[in-house]
Amino acid sequence: MTTPAPQDARESWSSRAGFLMAAIGSAIGLGNIWRFPAVTYENGGGAFIVPYLCALLTAGIPLLILEYTVGRKYRSSPPGATRLLARPAEAIGWWQVVICVVVAAYYAAILAWAVRYTGFSVNQAWGDDPEGFLFTDFLKVSEEPGTVSTFVPGVAWPLVAVWVVVLAILVLGVKRGIEKANMVFIPMLVAFFLVLVVRALTLDGAAEGLNALFTPDWSALSHGSVWVAAYGQIFFSLSVGFGIMITYASYLHRRSDLTGSALVAGFANSSFEILAGVAVFSTLGFMAGQAGVGVDEVTSSGVGLAFVAFPQIISEMPMGAFFGVLFFVSLVIAGLTSLISIVQVIVAAVEDRAGLRRTPAVLLVGGGIAVISVALFSNDSGLHFLDVADHFINQYGIVLAGLALVVTVSWVLRRLPALQANADATSAFGLGVWWRLCLGVITPLVLTWMMVDSLNSEFSENYGGYSTSFLLWSGWGVAAGALLLGVVLSLLPWRANRERPAVAEANEANEASEGSR
Ligand code: ALA
Repeated sequence: MTTPAPQDARESWSSRAGFLMAAIGSAIGLGNIWRFPAVTYENGGGAFIVPYLCALLTAGIPLLILEYTVGRKYRSSPPGATRLLARPAEAIGWWQVVICVVVAAYYAAILAWAVRYTGFSVNQAWGDDPEGFLFTDFLKVSEEPGTVSTFVPGVAWPLVAVWVVVLAILVLGVKRGIEKANMVFIPMLVAFFLVLVVRALTLDGAAEGLNALFTPDWSALSHGSVWVAAYGQIFFSLSVGFGIMITYASYLHRRSDLTGSALVAGFANSSFEILAGVAVFSTLGFMAGQAGVGVDEVTSSGVGLAFVAFPQIISEMPMGAFFGVLFFVSLVIAGLTSLISIVQVIVAAVEDRAGLRRTPAVLLVGGGIAVISVALFSNDSGLHFLDVADHFINQYGIVLAGLALVVTVSWVLRRLPALQANADATSAFGLGVWWRLCLGVITPLVLTWMMVDSLNSEFSENYGGYSTSFLLWSGWGVAAGALLLGVVLSLLPWRANRERPAVAEANEANEASEGSR
């Protein structure tokens, strides 16, 4: 017998399309535009598609389905949902929330740079030295990482603007804010990006760029690091491991399809990623042709790609200002929809556990992170903080929290069969034994291997050439602090612990009856 869940006041998406748009908006972000092309190029080019697809099918999509199922079943943000899985597991949920705080703080800073570069593109403010302009004139990067001596207002004000837009959308709520924003932004992003791709493909040298990207180096497949890179890319890009998909799925209707939605979101994200690879490498091919060098000499990733290589290309190409504005606006839109989803995890956790209403939750939590974000990243050490925090929170936050969730659900609590039954009951297609095999065996093994591999390289060489003391507090300290804070937050006597919502009680009863079947 299934206990009927009482009606609760939780918001929900207005339609499946609304949820899908938000999930796709969260997935498509900076990771697709500036991370994927470079990761592919560095890890075997065309041959990288093999580990990439394996990672998508054996870890990305199965984890996406797991997060959707947990979120919809328990109708709560990560701390509430993991608490309902098992009381001690709440620490994993809070850990994911703290990870989101760290990621949101620096992700917003990159968006702020992109906002400024949209304006700089109009008159190519970087002149003939984009590198010097970025590091010296715009970011005013200090020689000594970690020492803060200058406030950088040129980063602060667009950063404040980014936070105002994000918080304004979040105050409006799930349906009127997040869903509507994604319904407008995602079609806009696709349209802008298609124009960019067509422009890039018609540049001289585009074919050389695409050859460089897609010529397969099959020998790369025998290197463990290539497989590690593929799984890392899939995690960040699909937004799994942060608790985002648990949160978004908690606003789904009880009878909504889960497996079909995960496939649509996963393949939409990968299609966009490949499109971004085509646009970026066609453009790099053009740049290499202009400079009379090989594509390998102009290829860079992350900050170097978007804020040094692209400005250079914008200066050299016909109609550069138009191309530049389109590129940076696309970066802003893609990042904005991802940032909204990251901050929503934190807001929803405070709403669910502390019993705050949406507006005070957004203003208090979002406002707090905005202040941290402006304080940490609008100074001459901002780039160093960002670089180190990004590396450590990805490797030892997102991936490790994903691993903890998978191991807890599949091995400690042995809930995969019950969750599978829950997903299958309403989904387009049933999950076979492959889902349990991927989550119970393949994903934990690969993620453990990833951990060992990256710890190995961490101890053989200081990340980015930074000093050990700087890495200790800004990298290891941040990653370990996130875990510790997650545990502490899970032990606090939250208001919702005392007033356990009836809907959660009913869900637990259903869980127990499913588990015993
Ligand atoms: N999934 C988001 C991205 O790719 C976080 O940037």
